Amino acid sequence: MPNIPLVNLKAQYKAIGEEIAESINQVLEAQQFILGPQVEDLEIKIAHYSHCQYGIGMSSGTDALLCALMAIGIQPGDEVITTPYTFFATAGAIARLGARPVFADVIEDTLNIDPQQIEPLITRKTKAIIPVHFAGQAADMEAILRIAQRRHLYVIEDACQAIGADYKGKRVGSWGDIGCFSFFPTKNLGGYGDGGMATTNNPHLAERLRLLRNHGHQPKYYHQIVGGNFRLDALQAAILLVKFKYLENWIEARNTHARTYHQLFHKSGLAADAQQTGKVKLPAERRSGRHVYHLYVIQADQRDELKTYLHQNGIGAEIYYPVPLHLQGCFKHLGYKLGDLPVSERAARRSLALPIYPELNDQMLLEIVETIGEFYRST
Ligand SMILES: Cc1ncc(COP(=O)(O)O)c(C=O)c1O
Repeated sequence: MPNIPLVNLKAQYKAIGEEIAESINQVLEAQQFILGPQVEDLEIKIAHYSHCQYGIGMSSGTDALLCALMAIGIQPGDEVITTPYTFFATAGAIARLGARPVFADVIEDTLNIDPQQIEPLITRKTKAIIPVHFAGQAADMEAILRIAQRRHLYVIEDACQAIGADYKGKRVGSWGDIGCFSFFPTKNLGGYGDGGMATTNNPHLAERLRLLRNHGHQPKYYHQIVGGNFRLDALQAAILLVKFKYLENWIEARNTHARTYHQLFHKSGLAADAQQTGKVKLPAERRSGRHVYHLYVIQADQRDELKTYLHQNGIGAEIYYPVPLHLQGCFKHLGYKLGDLPVSERAARRSLALPIYPELNDQMLLEIVETIGEFYRST
């Protein structure tokens, strides 16, 4: 029986463990744990990589989003338009500031926010749009920015799943006013704990983000604005600096695996074609830029049974996301009901993420696709 987990961080650690230990040791020797040279080095590297002038290390992707919304001055009663098909933090950050998340449905094939759904939702209270680059593929930033510019709205990119993805030659995180990244351990660039980064090309916003992540004081103990402790750890930065050197190779490996999946699914007859006869709809890849395949999300018939069958046969698979955010209990007061955002609701019933980490090999991918084939033949 295969043993193919959804992610395999141990395999990655085996390859780079010694280098990581050396980098951690440098921090231990220096005994400087808060901000400092590793954080600054990482900020410069991630900003440059993401085609931005400024990078501000944050304690998590969640805190990067919260700080970004604070930096653009989101207030109680404001409205921020975003997608319901994302991790909770995207909308949670909006709600934590007393603002109202307003959900626009997604496009069926990419599961990214549908620009056409945005404009009708804009009111006098709307201040910003947060597109999410779902699974590692950029949202349609040109269309989103056209709306934002016309309606004088900020754009905060939730690039937490998409470091290194680009759109029309420009990296995610550089399209909007601020980009937010996560270094959660399972991300394409993941730390050994929580971490994040905000990027921007706007010096004024960079200054505000820097202040906000450190209690708003400048100089120390003289507080200009109310911020928090949203700082990235030096230890995490030291780990991420090592991993960053491998990121491009890892992204290439993920893309190779995605292509192999594509071929295997088509060869097996499982992939849905134009007549929708297959059992599995493969993730759509747009020509507008590079997908970084943080997740490989298929849409599957009998999704829940398939997930169980894969687990029983030693293959990891996970549902991103089982409940779209407009139907979450904590957002009941927003008044959404089942049927309001049908594309997201359908995706929540059908989507399943399969393993796509760099250390997989073709044999493992074949076993995954064959096991999926076995499941459909047996039902
Ligand atoms: C789309 C999205 N937004 C926000 C976050 C939050 O990032 P973090 O877990 O680093 O707080 C994540 C990841 O977990 C994410 O996938």
